[in-house]
Amino acid sequence: MDKLQLALKTAFASEYSFALKAQNFHWNVEGILFQQFHALFETIYDEVYGNIDVFAENIRKAKAYTPASLSRFSMLSVVEDETEILQAEQMCAELLADAEKLAELHKILFRLSEEAGEYGLSDFIAGRQDAFRKHAWMLRATLK
Ligand SMILES: [Fe+2]
Repeated sequence: MDKLQLALKTAFASEYSFALKAQNFHWNVEGILFQQFHALFETIYDEVYGNIDVFAENIRKAKAYTPASLSRFSMLSVVEDETEILQAEQMCAELLADAEKLAELHKILFRLSEEAGEYGLSDFIAGRQDAFRKHAWMLRATLK
């Protein structure tokens, strides 16, 4: 497996783990601002899940198999699992750190795609980086 294929699998597993975490927070958040946090987390996981199939197919286009099990995701993901029930602000702070990590990962992945001359892929990855920069912005603005 080449570097590009590994980076793709890592980013894919990380995006999936991130979406699951946002969904976890959507379900389990509590407090006076419940409705706002509940809706924000939904906006975030909807966006990520909405792109997950295209991402998976990009891995297949790169001649690698798409990881698609919880054990493979936890092996590959840079987004750590959250098993505790956090306060709403902690949820935002954790997702913000994860979103920034993902935007960085996409930066590396973009460069690898360009080096390989896979411009359709780098175009898709540029969009994913931008999506995570937007998630980071919304979470950062919520925490002010
Ligand atoms: Fe819901």
